[in-house]
Amino acid sequence: MKPILFLTRRIPEPAIKRLEEKFTLKINPYNRALTHQELIEGVKDAEALICLLTDNIDKEVISAAPKLKVISSYAVGYNNIEVEYATQLGIAVCNTPGVLTETTADLTWALILATCRRISESERFLRKGNFKGWEPMLMLGLDVYGKTLGIIGMGRIGQAVAKRATGFAMRIIYYNDVSVSNTLPFETTETDLQTLLKEADIITLHLPLTKETFHLIGKEEFALMKENAVLINTSRGAVIDEKELIKALSEKRIFSAGLDVYENEPDIPQELLALENVVLLPHIGSASIETRTKMALLAAENAIAVMKGRKPPAQVN
Ligand code: DGY
Repeated sequence: MKPILFLTRRIPEPAIKRLEEKFTLKINPYNRALTHQELIEGVKDAEALICLLTDNIDKEVISAAPKLKVISSYAVGYNNIEVEYATQLGIAVCNTPGVLTETTADLTWALILATCRRISESERFLRKGNFKGWEPMLMLGLDVYGKTLGIIGMGRIGQAVAKRATGFAMRIIYYNDVSVSNTLPFETTETDLQTLLKEADIITLHLPLTKETFHLIGKEEFALMKENAVLINTSRGAVIDEKELIKALSEKRIFSAGLDVYENEPDIPQELLALENVVLLPHIGSASIETRTKMALLAAENAIAVMKGRKPPAQVN
């Protein structure tokens, strides 16, 4: 008999086919995320779990599954999983690094350009019928070319964002809490967080959410930023103190923000929705057909490897 794998949401078909060779699949039948109780029920008889970044895989879920050997997340970030507890129980926790790097860097750049050049605001303006012809002062934004880009978190995605910045002749500064192997073949300057916040025109976040990075960008950090600073976040919402961001944007203490992630997804504060100087996306950093397929296949290979007693391609514990 094949072991049971519980899949908390349907993922791209090539991965389903691959998983069916090795597992009996139990797939969330609904077109929505499962509730916590449904997760607990679903995982009970499973030896393998493939979950999403929106599933709270806490102690309760993990201990409901006495046969569980692997938690394979269909994401690179794993702040939603009680990794320490899983480790104590000898359960492997896996993720999908690498395959979404370029796609997330692309989306980061889409947000940089959209915020600096007021793309969403301009389109809303036009669709409302407000475009009456070319105007000298209509929708003036900020240049990107030649500016200073401040990258907070210089891992794989941070470096992929930096690579794209060379085409815009930008000065690139970065902050990373631990020293990183930065082998980029162009000039970048490592700096402390305060200097980065003071000097960067565009600040972009590429950090995992941990106890240390929770609200890394708050009141004091906004106070250090330039008046025309632009803040981009495609990492995790809670790295920014959202209340302080709303204040900084409403008081026009910074120029604008481009967000793909939020503190309490999918809840977006009404005050944020009402602001013009912020571009808001529904957590689509890795959402391309090719990348989501690669992520699904990697999540599948992680689960299969653990069940076969092999080292999985991407294990975090
Ligand atoms: C991840 O994998 O952590 C991304 O946020 C998914 O888009």
